[in-house]
Amino acid sequence: MSILRRSIGLVAPFALLSLGACGNAETDSVQVGYRGTGMEQNYDHGDLKKQFAQVKIPTPLPPAGESPPGPLPWKNVQVLNDISVGEFNRTMVAMSTWVAGTGNCAYCHNVANFALDTLPTGKPIYTKLVARRMLQMTRQINGQYSQHVKYTGVTCYTCHLGKPLPNGLWFYSSQTDYLRHYLDRDGARVISQQIAPSNVNRSSVKQTEWTYALMISQSKSLGVNCTYCHNSRQFASWKEAPPTRVTAYHGILMLRDVNQNYLSPLQPVYPSMRLGSQGDAPKAQCVTCHNGVYKPLYGAQMVKDYPALWGRPDWNGVPFKGVGTMVVDTASKAPAGIVTTVKKSAALPAASTTGVPVGGSASGTR
Ligand code: HEC
Ligand code: HEC
Ligand code: HEC
Ligand code: HEC
Repeated sequence: MSILRRSIGLVAPFALLSLGACGNAETDSVQVGYRGTGMEQNYDHGDLKKQFAQVKIPTPLPPAGESPPGPLPWKNVQVLNDISVGEFNRTMVAMSTWVAGTGNCAYCHNVANFALDTLPTGKPIYTKLVARRMLQMTRQINGQYSQHVKYTGVTCYTCHLGKPLPNGLWFYSSQTDYLRHYLDRDGARVISQQIAPSNVNRSSVKQTEWTYALMISQSKSLGVNCTYCHNSRQFASWKEAPPTRVTAYHGILMLRDVNQNYLSPLQPVYPSMRLGSQGDAPKAQCVTCHNGVYKPLYGAQMVKDYPALWGRPDWNGVPFKGVGTMVVDTASKAPAGIVTTVKKSAALPAASTTGVPVGGSASGTR
């Protein structure tokens, strides 16, 4: 919120103007581009307040005390085997309210034996299997994508908001074709770099339509305008764009990893009612974390209180006080029964000296 406050000096005249124009609106204007480029972001106080009032951010559970030394008592723990007993239990309690809503352990467990991955009937408990992979995914996001999630990070609550099904789930269909940019399709860049007609840029009208659909959905997901990430004088230019565009680009790379290596491969684990009409698993997009806000949960740093989800040995300088060494890269360790796929997510294009991604495919690789 501090960026909003910093511009109070600018606000007063705006507030007066807009009072005259449309009643009680109060707008903050924040400069986002280089001086002289006339780029600014307008934040409407009334709207923000109303939206913020609707966001419930759970208070952190009391910290776990020191655990007695000794081996961990678990029988079937494949991911959270690097934290203390107290921290483990606390994480289970938190997960129960973040995902299952009710605080109900039975949502993921055969409560007669918490170590089992199956019900008394022998049927696998899909929620537990999915949750185990979600733990690895959350660590991967917080540990490997700090260029996007910074020190805000994500917990299960960021996406789940207290319910089993997050917002913005998508499946293959012709309507969601543009979202495949977040899964298996590159080439959002469609603008020609040449003045004269040439064969260099072979993007079709259809591809251009996809890019615009994608951009509109990104804007909606964050509750912002195109100018939050672009200088509308030249949409293709990285140099003239505000830094949020590079953050967004890292978000795209992160989503590809999440969808390719975590969510899609869960397909065989879900019951058929969870799958799309083409039999594919539910996938995520920007809105799944952002829920209409430029920073998920308005930047509430929930994960700093849950070291089990960090995926890196410290959080903003606070060292990890677990029992073992935290497993930083969990990507290669899918639990038994889950096939990890396909291709590795696209690497970040070589950075230019200004730190701006270069390259990409104007010629389209669809
Ligand atoms: C959202 C799903 C979910 C909920 C809800 C949940 N758990 Fe778990 N639980 C898991 C997963 C996944 C594992 C395995 C973790 C791993 O492999 O690292 C696990 C493992 C455990 C284990 C270790 C058993 C062993 O010996 O292997 C215990 C004990 C446990 N949970 C207790 C609880 C309690 C108590 C609650 C309710 C407060 C709870 N869990 C709620 C998903 C859940
Ligand atoms: C990046 C967003 C995201 C994060 C973070 C996340 N999840 Fe999920 N989760 C999803 C998506 C997408 C699905 C697929 C929804 C479905 O099952 O149809 C899902 C499904 C699930 C399901 C199955 C729900 C059902 O009934 O089908 C469980 C259980 C679950 N997640 C647990 C967790 C736990 C535990 C955490 C934290 C360790 C977590 N998730 C973190 C996005 C997320
Ligand atoms: C949250 C940040 C964000 C917002 C909001 C956003 N964009 Fe983008 N835009 C990007 C990123 C990042 C790329 C580069 C994608 C890539 O290279 O894969 C991009 C690429 C583009 C391109 C392709 C540029 C090229 O080189 O061909 C166009 C056109 C575009 N955006 C238009 C828009 C329009 C129109 C809007 C508003 C409806 C918008 N964008 C909103 C981040 C954003
Ligand atoms: C796994 C959850 C997650 C997903 C998915 C995600 N984001 Fe984010 N995003 C975050 C978090 C957390 C932050 C806050 C980082 C911070 O504190 O600066 C953030 C911040 C941003 C910012 C910087 C906002 C600012 O004001 O500084 C932009 C821009 C952004 N995201 C764009 C996107 C776009 C575009 C997508 C989809 C391609 C996306 N994000 C997908 C979690 C996510």
